[in-house]
Amino acid sequence: MKPFAQKANDPIEAEALRLLRSLMHVECSADRKWNIETCREIAPLTLEINQLKQEKNAVILTHSYVEPEVIYGVGDFKGDSYYLADKARQAKADVIVFAGVVFMAETAKILSPETLVVVPDRDSGCSLADSINGEDVRNMKALYPDAAVVCYINCTAEVKAESDVCVTSSNVYDIVAGLPERRILFVPDRLMADNIRKEMTKRGVDKEIISSDGTCLVHEEFSAEQIAEARRTFPGLKIVAHPECTSEVAGLSDFLGSTGEMMNYVKSTNAPYYLMLTECGLVGRLAIEDPEKNFIGGCRLCPYMKMNTLLKIRDALANPQPEQVITLNEELRQRAAHCIERMFELAT
Ligand code: 13P
Ligand code: SF4
Repeated sequence: MKPFAQKANDPIEAEALRLLRSLMHVECSADRKWNIETCREIAPLTLEINQLKQEKNAVILTHSYVEPEVIYGVGDFKGDSYYLADKARQAKADVIVFAGVVFMAETAKILSPETLVVVPDRDSGCSLADSINGEDVRNMKALYPDAAVVCYINCTAEVKAESDVCVTSSNVYDIVAGLPERRILFVPDRLMADNIRKEMTKRGVDKEIISSDGTCLVHEEFSAEQIAEARRTFPGLKIVAHPECTSEVAGLSDFLGSTGEMMNYVKSTNAPYYLMLTECGLVGRLAIEDPEKNFIGGCRLCPYMKMNTLLKIRDALANPQPEQVITLNEELRQRAAHCIERMFELAT
């Protein structure tokens, strides 16, 4: 192994050291943590991407589930869906690279139509967003014409265009509770709809929630048995879950919230152990930003979020292919923008 302390004048060595400061706390492959050698391997690429960002006046938005070398190596903003949508809306850049999944990049394009928005991998879908289309929503609306249509942000622009208001996991309960309509058509997450029903009952708010049948392939898998086993093994453990989990899991957890709120909860509490019922990328972010905390295993991987590699990001920036560029019909974009802007109004 090359010594590294005296080589920091070399830009690649300096970049490897910068990367190492964040990445040393997390794994780069099964059972192997990032070290100076592995950081040296990616340093030329992160330098190239950061240089390209300057040349093209680009920003890289990174969801907390993507790989840490992306978030900490080249990302400009990192966070949950609400935070990233807000950053896209305010972006002054000529180019946004969205390292997340396609519905998030579409949301960025809806809010920032003059900006070139690109995705590293067009196949980075989402089991929720892929579960329903615009026609399905129109059919539901025909059955319940008096209902307000609330879409979880994990849906396509086409579904947003059919909706009255958009929500994210950080504002869903307050927005639904505050709507004047009693009957709500909630798409596309059936499990989140269950959690909304429970929360409305808890708050004493009378709402009828009708939902479609989508689920998140990551969060639907967490179970009451997993929680019981973890609590037996780790006394004092705190269970931190996302509202895409089943209502049984949500009810057994100590905290339920968006990925941003989950991070804040862990950082502001002091428990001997945490079980994070969400995608493993969030655990990686916490291991980097709060290395004293202990996380027991049990998180799961979202295959779509993991499609965002440094190489694909470099290519999307240097020479985006047509399939990497988000384009939307202008009339549809305007209708979709309306429901997201309503979310921003109601969430503040
Ligand atoms: P957050 O908005 O809480 O980050 O959730 C996004 C998501 O896709 C969770 O699976
Ligand atoms: Fe979609 Fe679930 Fe992946 Fe989030 S974790 S992007 S909801 S499939």
